[in-house]
Amino acid sequence: MLVNSRLILNKADKGRYAIGAFNVSNLEIMQAVIEGASELRSPVIVQTSESAIKYAGMQNLVAMTRNLSGTAKIPVALHLDHGKTIETIKKAIESGYTSVMIDASDQPFEKNAAITKRIALLAHKKEVSVEGELGTLGGKEDYVSGRAELTDPGMAKEFVEKTGVDCLAVAIGTSHGAFKAAARLDIKRLKKIKKLVKIPLALHGASGVYRDIVAKAEKYGAKLESAKGNSDTEIQVSIAAGVSKVNTDTDLRLSFTAGLRKCLKEKTNLFDPREIMKEAKNEMKRMVKRRIILFGSSNKC
Ligand code: G3H
Ligand code: ZN
Repeated sequence: MLVNSRLILNKADKGRYAIGAFNVSNLEIMQAVIEGASELRSPVIVQTSESAIKYAGMQNLVAMTRNLSGTAKIPVALHLDHGKTIETIKKAIESGYTSVMIDASDQPFEKNAAITKRIALLAHKKEVSVEGELGTLGGKEDYVSGRAELTDPGMAKEFVEKTGVDCLAVAIGTSHGAFKAAARLDIKRLKKIKKLVKIPLALHGASGVYRDIVAKAEKYGAKLESAKGNSDTEIQVSIAAGVSKVNTDTDLRLSFTAGLRKCLKEKTNLFDPREIMKEAKNEMKRMVKRRIILFGSSNKC
């Protein structure tokens, strides 16, 4: 069933586990996420970036999520990831998203807070939850590219009080994409933020960029030299220190690539798209389950 993300994130926050927020942009990715989460009886967040919306169409993404979550026996939230414009956010709310992110983190504090508050007021009227972001991540993907600037704990407290957001994305050293900056996560900072901020915290740029998946993709022709991500230990420590929402996009992209390349290389007689996509989908589903087990959200519904 389709739910508000506040419900599942608050529960995770209390239970000290995290909900996986997986980026989707087509049917197979969405099936992999919802089927994987269902098999582990885990709540899950399906999220779409603005460029995923450009690619697949907002109405199509909403319809697919409604249909797939309607028959699933787990709570699923549909979240707008890195919403940059008020127009897109309004459209998402009207179209049936149950959760939105307003990412004005490239703006000065006061402006970020003012825009975020405006979105929170608007979204809450429709029972839609809101994620804001303070601090910026390095790296680039579908999202904003930027200079990393870690979140200040005192400012995070002020930001949450001023805006009324339900969830806060913090910058503690992760970066977006498959070629992450070699940064140690600032867990001390995360703990300070968690002490001051009483709402669920989100970790972006959290993909593991696992060696085995990268190696598999490379074995079948991908060139991913210097691909690098967060260790499982870093993610577990972050969850223990207060993170309740862990974003994962790159790991699904890499899994898709590994599965698709393997299939095309080994099964040269295939020409039915459904058969070809099967291996990519199964590889992504394995990744979804691997991440959910890491986040500790199995058997929570
Ligand atoms: O908003 C999406 C995530 O922050 C993606 O992070 O590139 O590490 O998968 P990732
Ligand atoms: Zn992100």
